[in-house]
Amino acid sequence: MKYIYGNWKMNFLDQDVNKFIKDFKKEKKPANVEFGLAVPFLHLQKMVKKLQKKCFIGAQNVCYAESGAYTGETSAKMLADKKTCFSLVGHSERRTKFLETNEQINQKIKLLLNNGIMPLLCVGETKEERAEKKTKRVLKTQLTKALKDVPNGKKFIIAYEPVWAIGTGITPEKSEIVENISYIKKVLSENNYLGICVLYGGSVNPENAKSLLGDDIIDGALVGGASLDAKKFVNIAVNLMRE
Ligand code: PGA
Repeated sequence: MKYIYGNWKMNFLDQDVNKFIKDFKKEKKPANVEFGLAVPFLHLQKMVKKLQKKCFIGAQNVCYAESGAYTGETSAKMLADKKTCFSLVGHSERRTKFLETNEQINQKIKLLLNNGIMPLLCVGETKEERAEKKTKRVLKTQLTKALKDVPNGKKFIIAYEPVWAIGTGITPEKSEIVENISYIKKVLSENNYLGICVLYGGSVNPENAKSLLGDDIIDGALVGGASLDAKKFVNIAVNLMRE
């Protein structure tokens, strides 16, 4: 099974959502691929209603607190109430532009799990950290802090997203992705988190899907830009599964 998850970020008006739903339903999807889409809060309800049977629908963020005086925020309980399957947590844009800390990310993961929503945790190094050969140290810190006191046996997904590859059109060599995902899986299993899927994210498109993701250790992709076009999004899966 491979997992192709999308992240619409802050894009799409109603008319774009309607077009996507129509196009996505039309596309022939390969077997053994699970699709998911993290959409803006305003589109969650419609997407759950119209597409949940074909594609898991998720949020892009959740509040680190349970409820109360947090103007502008959305709680895990509210997401569960709307039948949201999963939520992104710790995307690099949230870490840098909204100053999200590993401690808040940890609180978010625990609240999601308590409300039956699967966290999709994003981790990854910056260009500078990579140049200074700190990638593994960064990944270990992000993982251990985000998963502090998270019980074993819970279902979640990790996306390895090198920050320098997000939205840049620049990607690592597959060997580098394999090395870092293997390391993430090693850290997870050392902490008794077993059978956790690890996706790659950063400038994935239909053209590079096979060469970038075609390895047993890579469980799939988290796709930003190319998830805004239903055909491209599905074709990432089609090309990946091609013999
Ligand atoms: P990208 O974004 O595919 O546009 O590089 C990936 C992401 O931010 O998850």
